[in-house]
Amino acid sequence: MGTGAWTVEKRSSFRTEPFSKENTTAPETGCLSIVVLGASGDLAKKKTFPALFHLYREGFLIPDEVHIFGYARTKISDEELRNRLRGYLIPSKGASSEQLDEVTKFLQLIKYVSGSYDSPEGFQLLDKEIFEHESSKNTREGSSRRLFYFALPPSVYPSVCRMIKNYCMNKSDLGGWTRIVVEKPFGKDLGSSEQLSTQIGQLFEESQIFRIDHYLGKELVQNLLVLRFANRFFLPLWNRDNIDNVQIVFREDFGTEGRGGYFDEYGIIRDIIQNHLLQVLCLVAMEKPVSLRPEHIRDEKVKVLQSVLPIKDEEVVVGQYEGYRDDPTVPDNSKTPTFATVILRIHNERWEGVPFILKAGKALNSRKADIRVQFKDVPGDIFKCQKQGRNEFVIRLQPSEAMYMKLTVKQPGLEMSTVQSELDLSYGQRYQDVKIPEAYERLILDTIRGDQQHFVRRDELKAAWEIFTPLLHKIDNGEFEPIQYKPGSRGPAEADELLQRAGYVQTHGYIWIPPTLS
Ligand code: BG6
Repeated sequence: MGTGAWTVEKRSSFRTEPFSKENTTAPETGCLSIVVLGASGDLAKKKTFPALFHLYREGFLIPDEVHIFGYARTKISDEELRNRLRGYLIPSKGASSEQLDEVTKFLQLIKYVSGSYDSPEGFQLLDKEIFEHESSKNTREGSSRRLFYFALPPSVYPSVCRMIKNYCMNKSDLGGWTRIVVEKPFGKDLGSSEQLSTQIGQLFEESQIFRIDHYLGKELVQNLLVLRFANRFFLPLWNRDNIDNVQIVFREDFGTEGRGGYFDEYGIIRDIIQNHLLQVLCLVAMEKPVSLRPEHIRDEKVKVLQSVLPIKDEEVVVGQYEGYRDDPTVPDNSKTPTFATVILRIHNERWEGVPFILKAGKALNSRKADIRVQFKDVPGDIFKCQKQGRNEFVIRLQPSEAMYMKLTVKQPGLEMSTVQSELDLSYGQRYQDVKIPEAYERLILDTIRGDQQHFVRRDELKAAWEIFTPLLHKIDNGEFEPIQYKPGSRGPAEADELLQRAGYVQTHGYIWIPPTLS
């Protein structure tokens, strides 16, 4: 097993430069009000508040400056919200009294405001509460910072945006900035997404809108640019001359569990592939940006998306796991895919002819997400080792974050024979003292700092929908019958056949096992 064969000797830290006008003038200190809209919902409890708590614990949210407001329709008191959240902030294996203390102090920063999402009263009250908080901190002119996190269904985005714009935008003359963080699904297809973008765009500048895709906050996704553009190794290899195919795979070993109602409306392509996996594809395939400015990076991502050719029907396999329709919130005749393999082809000089295989599925045999770059065979195989497998560079996004390079070496010993092995950078082993931050934690911090690098720009979103909308419409019209697969399996066998047709060669008899800590 690998022993962390790569070492890192030198470190340099970089931050992307702000680009937009708003960002260059925006204050980074001063009173910060974070409003979690949809505070009693699942996303808020499971992701948003825990991420805020971690930022608080790490010292990024300073009690003297910050106040958190939960907003939702349910009529509950501050204390009731705090009690509901408490369980999500305490580690499942139990907490020390210090940790419990920290949780209590954090919860004291949270105030609850109840109101509807489409009438002024609630938002006027919210504005009043925020203003009181700002006044109590003697906020200087120009330094009020208001962050609105939408942990809400997109159907209410337009009305909530209107309410914020009309009633919560710093009429107090304190100035500063207002930003909104919105979650997917941003529409269901190109038309609905563009409509939503237009509605929000009429109220907020692009520099105020942070479209979150939490995959962009994952450590190894964030590492992709560094890896590709700060290492000489990869520069000459990363192209159609050397790479045979690229797979970006997401698997979960559980079904839709309690989210059947939401999921059935969207399906796996909208839930995972059109956003999370496509964002990863952009970072794997894009050209080197002019600089690390968010706009430069996003310009390159858009170019990749615009170079994707229309998806061919014969390069798609969709599936649905047996038992999916037993969920009472899923219609009995649902044809929503819970699994899909889709091949994208990028029509440019670097990637012509290289299939990018995007695969995602629920209720499969394992839970993991990785990028697998498979290289072409070595020409003139004097070792006759081709059948053992091809070189692969694998980036394991989760769990057990790692990068490993699968390669052929001499079998140690007297004989001259070959074997598959790996150069292995396993994070758990290599960075034992480092706690890898949660994606949401990192991204919320970016929104506070005004760094849009890891957020989806409007034209990027549009280009992503352009790729998938024709296919999604065909699926919605019943033109694709999802193939049934057994829960706990690899998914439909037809997907493996498609992979083979695309040129992927599976290595048999080699399994990478993440190293265990000694
Ligand atoms: C969400 C999807 O965006 O991502 C879920 O809606 C999915 O269906 C989740 O389970 C996966 O996120 P992660 O970070 O656990 O891979």
